Amino acid sequence: MVMISLLRFRFSVRLFFCGLAVVFFVALAPGTPYAKEVDCLSCHEAVAKGKDVHPAVGMGCTACHTGVDATEVPHKMTGTVAKGLSADQPELCYGCHDKTKFTRKVVHPALGMGCTACHNPHASKNEKLLNAELPDLCFTCHDKTKFSGKFIHAPVGIGMCTACHDPHSSPNPKLLVSEPPDLCFTCHEKKEFTKKNVHAPVAGGMCLSCHRPHASEHTSLLVKAPVEVCLECHPDVRRAPHALAGFSGRGHAIGEPKKGRKPVTDPARPGKVFYCGSCHNPHSSDSMRLFRYKANSSFGICQYCHVK
Ligand code: HEC
Ligand code: HEC
Ligand code: HEC
Ligand code: HEC
Ligand code: HEC
Ligand code: HEC
Ligand code: HEC
Ligand code: HEC
Ligand code: HEC
Ligand code: HEC
Ligand code: HEC
Repeated sequence: MVMISLLRFRFSVRLFFCGLAVVFFVALAPGTPYAKEVDCLSCHEAVAKGKDVHPAVGMGCTACHTGVDATEVPHKMTGTVAKGLSADQPELCYGCHDKTKFTRKVVHPALGMGCTACHNPHASKNEKLLNAELPDLCFTCHDKTKFSGKFIHAPVGIGMCTACHDPHSSPNPKLLVSEPPDLCFTCHEKKEFTKKNVHAPVAGGMCLSCHRPHASEHTSLLVKAPVEVCLECHPDVRRAPHALAGFSGRGHAIGEPKKGRKPVTDPARPGKVFYCGSCHNPHSSDSMRLFRYKANSSFGICQYCHVK
């Protein structure tokens, strides 16, 4: 009961302001109650206000609202679709927008909630008629904490989700605009990954076997602590003396953390921790054994850290 009286109150207030326009229209064109002849904006001025106005609005409200008889308020809805629309979403939108862009192999489940889950059909203060700016728009449905951490990938931090994802549909998994490694090479120099000797997982395009795409608790967006990333596929390195067989029987240190001791720093790269990547380039190298430095033999790299 309270609802109904509130509604009546709203109608009467609106009618007070809008009634004149209707009376004026009806007086001018008696007997021709076609929706398109009513100046919808005289009462609905607000819908077309915003920095970005949908060009469809300029084509007339009846481009979409074919079933509104606005000679009366509240209007008589002549169609079967809510709000007097000519069709349900997304078909309504496909009337003017190329459907194939929204129906590729992988479709964003958000589309099932209607295009208006993300876009205002009339106007918006945001670009592309979006209901909110990126990345906040995405965080209305996706857990923001998954995109934060000690280290955040630069494009994620500045909300460039659509540099990597198509918000509608894509031929690639996870709505990616292209798949790694090509996706990564749109921003990262390909030549760093294609030197003479390429590390097997890099050659296989498996950037994500070592890196997280959004954020990580480890440096360089790694999936684990640096030394553990390498030992995951190279467990033998820990078992046998590494790099130097005869060296006090233990081989060279590989940067595994020792209990209660601070991590050793890389003498050749101040500020970085000493680990496998101090001697080997994890991606590719012009040297043998993926050495980070120019060397023609295993002992050729010693000089970069140990003064002769
Ligand atoms: C005389 C003022 C006036 C004019 C002119 C007018 N409207 Fe409205 N319209 C209203 C009012 C007031 C409401 C809110 C009443 C309601 O919620 O039903 C409304 C509601 C609507 C709604 C929402 C209905 C719903 O089911 O929620 C649509 C859609 C709409 N108008 C479209 C139009 C279109 C399209 C035109 C032009 C063809 C138009 N209106 C012209 C006053 C007007
Ligand atoms: C591109 C198609 C399109 C055009 C053009 C269009 N509308 Fe709409 N309109 C919609 C859709 C879709 C909805 C339903 C929005 C929703 O459910 O979230 C809607 C809803 C409305 C509503 C209900 C209130 C609301 O915001 O949900 C009003 C009022 C309205 N439109 C008025 C107009 C008027 C006036 C015009 C012309 C100036 C117009 N529309 C042009 C698609 C359109
Ligand atoms: C009557 C034709 C028509 C219909 C129906 C229509 N649009 Fe559009 N829309 C256009 C035109 C024309 C443009 C400008 C050219 C372009 O970007 O394709 C446009 C542009 C857009 C843009 C880009 C705006 C910008 O700032 O670049 C978005 C987003 C959009 N439409 C969403 C929708 C959604 C969502 C629907 C369904 C609710 C819809 N459109 C239905 C005609 C239409
Ligand atoms: C999950 C949110 C979301 C949904 C749902 C959504 N869009 Fe979009 N749409 C976006 C974003 C984000 C952009 C801006 C893309 C960019 O800037 O690269 C966009 C851009 C557009 C554009 C502008 C074209 C362009 O590439 O710049 C059109 C047209 C459009 N959307 C139509 C639609 C239609 C039609 C639907 C429903 C079938 C829809 N959108 C559903 C998020 C969405
Ligand atoms: C209206 C809610 C909604 C919004 C807004 C939204 N999404 Fe989604 N998205 C979903 C749902 C539901 C799923 C499927 C469940 C899941 O993976 O969380 C999904 C899945 C995804 C997937 C995985 C698709 C797959 O094939 O596994 C990606 C990538 C994605 N969304 C990106 C985005 C981006 C980028 C934005 C912002 C432009 C965004 N989403 C905004 C609802 C939304
Ligand atoms: C640098 C490229 C890049 C950027 C920028 C990016 N993503 Fe992703 N995203 C990816 C990749 C690659 C995957 C696939 C991960 C996988 O397969 O393990 C992914 C997966 C996802 C998924 C699916 C999650 C899952 O575990 O399946 C969602 C949702 C998502 N991204 C949303 C977003 C949102 C929201 C933003 C912006 C805040 C964003 N992405 C920015 C590259 C990116
Ligand atoms: C849209 C551009 C863009 C794309 C696409 C992109 N990146 Fe990045 N990435 C950046 C920028 C910008 C930085 C920061 C630049 C810098 O610090 O040199 C960065 C930094 C990184 C870093 C170093 C992070 C750190 O904390 O030092 C890694 C690792 C990385 N990206 C991996 C990837 C991978 C893997 C992909 C593909 C899945 C990818 N990137 C795709 C732009 C991009
Ligand atoms: C075998 C694991 C592994 C694979 C596979 C891998 N990376 Fe890395 N990446 C690393 C490690 C470890 C670092 C940190 C290097 C260091 O110590 O400075 C790194 C660093 C980076 C950086 C930061 C700049 C730099 O070169 O130090 C970028 C960008 C990057 N990787 C991109 C990629 C891309 C793109 C791919 C796929 C083509 C990829 N990575 C594949 C392990 C890997
Ligand atoms: C996803 C699995 C994987 C990860 C993670 C991985 N590797 Fe590899 N690595 C391989 C494969 C496969 C080969 C080639 C097989 C072989 O030659 O034994 C290889 C070969 C190598 C080689 C020998 C290259 C040569 O020319 O002799 C070195 C050195 C190497 N990896 C270092 C590293 C370092 C350093 C890391 C950590 C940043 C790492 N790997 C992480 C899979 C991996
Ligand atoms: C102090 C420099 C140094 C560090 C640190 C280091 N390596 Fe090596 N690595 C070498 C040298 C030198 C060789 C060549 C040994 C040879 O030719 O007998 C080598 C060879 C390799 C090879 C080729 C196959 C083999 O076992 O001979 C792999 C794989 C490898 N290292 C992985 C790793 C991994 C994984 C780590 C970290 C857990 C690591 N390395 C740490 C210097 C290093
Ligand atoms: C990227 C830098 C780097 C390279 C290259 C390197 N080392 Fe080392 N080396 C270290 C670090 C750091 C330690 C100390 C490790 C620790 O305390 O855990 C060390 C320790 C040693 C030690 C033990 C004595 C001491 O000073 O603590 C010897 C001997 C040694 N390295 C010889 C070599 C030889 C031989 C080579 C060439 C095959 C080589 N190193 C290549 C960084 C390097």
